[in-house]
Amino acid sequence: MTIDETFIDKTIEKNNRSLISILQDIQESYNYLPEESLIKVAEKMQIPLIDVYSVVTFYHSFCLIPKGEYIITVCLGTACYIRGGKKIVDLLTKELEIIPGETTKDNKFTLETVNCLGCCAIGPIVKINNEYHGEMTPNKTKKLIKSLKREKND
Ligand code: FES
Repeated sequence: MTIDETFIDKTIEKNNRSLISILQDIQESYNYLPEESLIKVAEKMQIPLIDVYSVVTFYHSFCLIPKGEYIITVCLGTACYIRGGKKIVDLLTKELEIIPGETTKDNKFTLETVNCLGCCAIGPIVKINNEYHGEMTPNKTKKLIKSLKREKND
């Protein structure tokens, strides 16, 4: 992957050399942290590459593997779990043929689970990119995935 150096320069300047904010911006732009971007950041900030990797690997929110166009996050916190969150994960595993942590071969969907999304009252929650879907069921999830798959073919 070719990294846009101007983007890296601007990101470093915009974030006042705050490494975490720089990495967050890069991840938001590429959906993950390409290795080349980390090398560029280290070079441009004149810091050891190992320091950049230390930050990336310390924070769970940073990802070194490319993610899909749709990141599906199913909450498996207690409130969502007892209302059927696990059944939704099982459905998605079957429908997408991936397990949590994986991305479909066409790079369309990534499946993830979390322990709480902070809106337990309307669980089970399925988050797709930044959109929250409350009171989900396996059936509703299936319809949602179907519509996203259709979008892909339009
Ligand atoms: S347990 Fe699912 S949102 Fe809190």
